[in-house]
Amino acid sequence: MILGIVNDHAGYYLKLKLLEYLKQKNIQFINFGSDTPDAVDYPDFAHILAKAVENKQVDLGISICGTGNGINIAANKHMGIRSAVCWRKEISHLARLHNNANICALPARFITPEEAYVIVDEFISTSFEGGRHIQRINKIPLQS
Ligand code: RB5
Repeated sequence: MILGIVNDHAGYYLKLKLLEYLKQKNIQFINFGSDTPDAVDYPDFAHILAKAVENKQVDLGISICGTGNGINIAANKHMGIRSAVCWRKEISHLARLHNNANICALPARFITPEEAYVIVDEFISTSFEGGRHIQRINKIPLQS
């Protein structure tokens, strides 16, 4: 399991804490995010992560911006991406279980690092349930 991680400036400090946590837990990751607190544009990083997930360079993605929304919206423009804003453990669990989400978008300005660790742990340890959810997620890509 290799995680891809991205962040904008609002997500920078939470990203640093999360990387420490992942190292402690021996979870492999590739950091594609911004490595300064200087202002950047979150779509630039959302697209890098989305491509890495789509081309299977990483298994799952974690994205971090202030609200989780901007980076989530941008990633979801990619046809192979199901990105979910996750602000608590139960949302993270259901995003994997029902939606087969492949990116977890974290709202850095609204959660603590400890909450982020729980959310990420839940995201990477939960599998898609399949069954009735398969036909639903298959209807997500834009129909012409
Ligand atoms: C940056 O100030 C902020 O707009 C961004 O991190 C994010 O919250 C956008 O949705």
